[in-house]
Amino acid sequence: MYVDTHCHLIDEKLADSKSVIQEFERYGITKAITMGCCADTSEKGALLSNEYKSVYFGSGVHPSDAYKFNNQEADRVVALLSHPKCVAVGEIGLDYYWEGYDKAVQKHAFITQLEIANEHKLPVSIHMRDATADTLEILKEHKPIYGGVLHCFAGSVETAKILINMGFYISFAGTLTFKNANKVLEVAKFLPDEFCLTETDSPFLAPHPYRGTVNTPKHVPVILEKLAQIKGRDMEVMARVVMQNALTLFPKLK
Ligand code: NI
Repeated sequence: MYVDTHCHLIDEKLADSKSVIQEFERYGITKAITMGCCADTSEKGALLSNEYKSVYFGSGVHPSDAYKFNNQEADRVVALLSHPKCVAVGEIGLDYYWEGYDKAVQKHAFITQLEIANEHKLPVSIHMRDATADTLEILKEHKPIYGGVLHCFAGSVETAKILINMGFYISFAGTLTFKNANKVLEVAKFLPDEFCLTETDSPFLAPHPYRGTVNTPKHVPVILEKLAQIKGRDMEVMARVVMQNALTLFPKLK
């Protein structure tokens, strides 16, 4: 039994969601959390979770969509949080990689959603790209009381140490299997088992040797296998550790 703690089943590349979900279930993935990128995708995630037992969702506005974050958008995100299969506020965070970002707009959306998560007693799924210092500063000032995970972690061992000391989980995606993965390999080697999660971030970042194809949650065992290999564990042992960590961080992931 495997869990994909961060994917995007609403993406148009996975438009045939029925066959995607049936297929990953055949691969042994019993739980997949489809993260919202805005109110619209969060609402669609809720609908998918109503339809499929294995699908759970996060409700939130991604930093790349932070320009959409107004009171109305926030109200729609909040309205989903009481749904029995809404396991997290996410994905939220900061992304200074893509051209045209507005730091103030992103910070406002991030901070507001961290406060929303605390009010609604939910953990958070955090996206952090080229924005380590600002993310750490905000997480210190607006600490998620119910915990959180840094998804598709691309930071250093030093940053990972700071985050786990604050109680955060670190999630590994297909990037762990890439040939140029030295930095994330170091993090995987260092990270104690109790802070490890895995995800596909599908439809993006298909793991080696599927790189360049449309990714789906069915590939999560490829990432788990790599993590197990790095840490010198049996793959099934690693899978159980990750499942237990996911159930601990996301209490609604029953
Ligand atoms: Ni994502």
